[in-house]
Amino acid sequence: MKCMYQFYKRFAGKTMGKYKVLIIGSGGREHALGWKIKQSPFLEKLYFAPGNAGTAQLGENIKINADQIDQLMRFALKNKVDLTVVGPEGALAAGVVDLFLKNHLTIFGPTKKAAQLESSKMFAVNFMQKYHIPHPRSWIFHQSADALQFIKNHPSSTLVIKADGLAAGKGVFVCSSRQEAELAVREIMIDKTFAEAGDQVIIQERLIGQEVSVLAITDGKKLSVFPPAQDHKRALNNDRGANTGGMGAYAPVPFVDKELLNTIEKTILWPTIMGMRKDKIPYRGILYAGLMITKKGPIVLEFNARFGDPETQALMMILKSDLLPVLLNCSRGKLTDRPLDWREGFSLCVILSSKGYPSAYKKGEPIIIANHVLKKDITLFHAGTTLKGGQLVTNGGRVIGVTGFRKSMRQVIRAVYQFIKQKGVYFKGAHYRTDIGQKGIIGRQQKK
Ligand code: AMP
Ligand code: GLY
Repeated sequence: MKCMYQFYKRFAGKTMGKYKVLIIGSGGREHALGWKIKQSPFLEKLYFAPGNAGTAQLGENIKINADQIDQLMRFALKNKVDLTVVGPEGALAAGVVDLFLKNHLTIFGPTKKAAQLESSKMFAVNFMQKYHIPHPRSWIFHQSADALQFIKNHPSSTLVIKADGLAAGKGVFVCSSRQEAELAVREIMIDKTFAEAGDQVIIQERLIGQEVSVLAITDGKKLSVFPPAQDHKRALNNDRGANTGGMGAYAPVPFVDKELLNTIEKTILWPTIMGMRKDKIPYRGILYAGLMITKKGPIVLEFNARFGDPETQALMMILKSDLLPVLLNCSRGKLTDRPLDWREGFSLCVILSSKGYPSAYKKGEPIIIANHVLKKDITLFHAGTTLKGGQLVTNGGRVIGVTGFRKSMRQVIRAVYQFIKQKGVYFKGAHYRTDIGQKGIIGRQQKK
């Protein structure tokens, strides 16, 4: 322990004390971040705002929502919080980082201006154009009539229509016909389903390939890339059904080898950080590149300005290093070289969702957890859960992520699904995909 402590002292570049940490958000991502931070010897106290039933077992849940940024700031000041970690994009776009910094509080995440890489697809496209970062051919429209005319005249009928602003993951329409594309423009710009997020639309060429999420931590000067992860956004097996917040993830992705990851770092991540610096919008926090791996190479479909959900659940399972000093150092602009070590092996997160999700679903179903079925390196990350009269019940669309770690992809897939099938966790109407991680195996076979 003494040896470990010495290591951390060096690692942090200064003597580390004990720290109070506040995590903003209430999903599986926040539970996973808290689970990891809880293991740090430098943690004094852990708060979640507002958290869920899972986070309540790790620390104290505070009744402040992620978008109530003034209240969050006052809480952090009053309770002398040493580090705040922002989960959801809404809080970033609302300026939580700017507000905390103005009040001399340490916070992990980009400023409102820097978070535009996620909160405005128009900003992101213009930025990528300026700095020659690979992205799909894109056209921006401020008027619906112009967008509709463009669709009519465009030689290809397969287009992607995107609302400019944040739309809770619902503002992207991957279209197979002109009619679908026109309907999407109408929904975004005329019906205003996403309010002012639909003041502009971005029309993109539709790319074909495998999607991966590559996250990196950066203080604006240094950057450390995480192992690649893969999300599963559709509700049903074989990527069918409606788009969801994510039905499962695994990491690392075997078909993204070292060479490809280097290319992603060199052609996408670094140019982004350097470009933001050049534009005097220094970027600090997590830079998440949602990529399509095409025949021409990796291309950015979207940037996110935060940890991914459910990628983070998988990533925290393979993270060896203590996350707390790294987040602290990064927030202070002092990220060290090679700050993160990763376990050799694979992690997989399978989301159990409420029946009906992502459409209407019922809340309040009792959740049964059979602790005796739990095995080493299988962890439950809560998302939509709460306690009602002492009983754990469902409280959202995505309820729990069963997350495992094993030495191989096949082993981790077997372990996680075995746990689910043995009713290690159960609630009425629970839905889950049975093919999470399969692309990791198929992808590897194809590569051989
Ligand atoms: P986004 O929110 O931009 O990541 O888009 C949501 C999903 O739409 C992505 O995960 C992709 O599956 C799909 N998508 C977005 N842009 C494109 C594109 N240009 N070509 C093909 N699919 C896309
Ligand atoms: N996993 C997708 C996201 O976090 O946006």
